[in-house]
Amino acid sequence: MVPSLLALCARRVVSDHSSSPSWLRCVPRELYRELLEAAFTHCRPLAVGELVQRWPERALRLGGRRRAGQNPPHRLCVQALLLAVVRGLADKRCILQVVDLCGLQCEEGGVADSMGGWSLTVALCSIVLQARAEAPKGTKRDKERKRLSAAERERDRVAKRERGTEQKACAITENNREARQVAEGPEMEEERAKGVRKKMEAARDKAKDVGGTEGKLTPPELGGVPERVRIWADLFVTARSWERVRTALSADGPLRLHCQHLRVEELPASKIVALLGLLPRNGLLGLDIRYSSLGVSGLALLLPALAPFPSLRSLRLHYCNLDSRREVPGQEGALRDMALGLKALANLRQLSLTALRLPGHLRMLLSALSQPLEVLELPYLSLTPGDLSYLSCSPHASSLRRLDLSENRLEEVTLPSLQRLLSHASSSLTHLSLCGCNLSDGLLGILLPSLCDCRVLRVLRLALNPLSRDGILSLVRAVSRIPSLQMLLYPSPLEDYQPGLPQSPSSAQLLDWPLAEELEGRDTIQVELNTELTVNGRSDLLLTSDLLNYNSLLDEED
Ligand SMILES: *[C@@H]1O[C@H](CO)[C@@H](O)[C@H](O)[C@H]1NC(C)=O
Repeated sequence: MVPSLLALCARRVVSDHSSSPSWLRCVPRELYRELLEAAFTHCRPLAVGELVQRWPERALRLGGRRRAGQNPPHRLCVQALLLAVVRGLADKRCILQVVDLCGLQCEEGGVADSMGGWSLTVALCSIVLQARAEAPKGTKRDKERKRLSAAERERDRVAKRERGTEQKACAITENNREARQVAEGPEMEEERAKGVRKKMEAARDKAKDVGGTEGKLTPPELGGVPERVRIWADLFVTARSWERVRTALSADGPLRLHCQHLRVEELPASKIVALLGLLPRNGLLGLDIRYSSLGVSGLALLLPALAPFPSLRSLRLHYCNLDSRREVPGQEGALRDMALGLKALANLRQLSLTALRLPGHLRMLLSALSQPLEVLELPYLSLTPGDLSYLSCSPHASSLRRLDLSENRLEEVTLPSLQRLLSHASSSLTHLSLCGCNLSDGLLGILLPSLCDCRVLRVLRLALNPLSRDGILSLVRAVSRIPSLQMLLYPSPLEDYQPGLPQSPSSAQLLDWPLAEELEGRDTIQVELNTELTVNGRSDLLLTSDLLNYNSLLDEED
């Protein structure tokens, strides 16, 4: 993409920090966005800070979708932005009311020097508390002095770091980046947050002395600081950061956190419920719970806490042990409560239940929903033929855009249900995953006509199924006639494995069994597959057996 003249000028303007006192005085507000963009793109944290501190508009949006090839913002820049939001509270030129950082959070461990995962959440909580601690209270002069010196210290700190980084940061080699990421990682964020935390703790202790009750952050003389700036973000909370997030959400102050997507890991239901109770009601679109041992009763406790969020569209439970196989008394009752809880989520469109192992309960859960689902992910659910039969006739079938039934065993008796499901979903389904479903050449052959009828299908994943080379060849021949198809993830053919693979291998065996290193036919099949594509005029269709890089449905929001 050719940069615009404006972008080139903006880059020039923000490039030299020593000149900022002169340009800051005269740039019109219309140019702030472009300058901020340039400051982020070319990693100029000081310029970011100065622009944001006197932001001349009500809203500032940083997250969102990035263009292909565009890196996420450098974390020094994000840090500078956050600190400047706090400074802006005391700056008359700043009229900021909404900062939107949603979408930044997704950069999980991706690009070095970005700020993602839980470290952004921790940084956000720190500035909320910092802003609260610095909000006017006590004698005015005290406050002012404290604010100024804190701001100066921050400025010095950023300046020092920037001097060191500016030559380096924007041109670090790939290796260095990795090494730095390993060396610094989230711990550095932690370190940076520490200074702020110390300040917060001092403020809290002081508040306690004045007569605040244990753990309660609002000293009586404050009477609540009015909210001035809303910060929208996706929050990611782990067991380690829960307390800090809870404190930040319960503190009333000039900055208030609003959450669009909440992701929690390794938290018990009670702690998740406590967080939900503190979140602003409007705007929560998604909740993603991972690796939390909820139990059916925990989930039954959790779901009612979600009902007050009117815009909740997506619920994901990822490896949340429900323990439903054991014959526990009251289990059925708890499951019914769970279904009632789901029913109350009026806008739910995406449900993802990974590894819940709830055989035979799909009807109970899904028939409670008042609206049809658009995204349904049920990998490792131990679906029974009855479950599939219900799903294929359910109101959800004809509105599904994405469906993941991976790691549920498909057999001849369940194929008619799956065929019916596909025919109902044929005009809506864009993503389908049937990895590790024990689909043999024979079974897949029966399924192919239904697959080919899915006329808007874009992504098809069939890894870890026991298919032969011939099976894969017929698969490619068939699906290359789906004009919308962009990607096919196919399994390594059985012939490519080292000798000794069991007769009907499980998906775990297909995953673990070593592939033969040197193999005559391997190149031949590649050639044949490519020929098949060329003959059908489908050189645009991506064929891959790269399970590691193409196995996730999660990364494809549309
Ligand atoms: C896979 O299907 C075959 C029949 O096609 C069956 O014999 C075998 O037990 C199945 N394997 C698993 C792991 O379910």
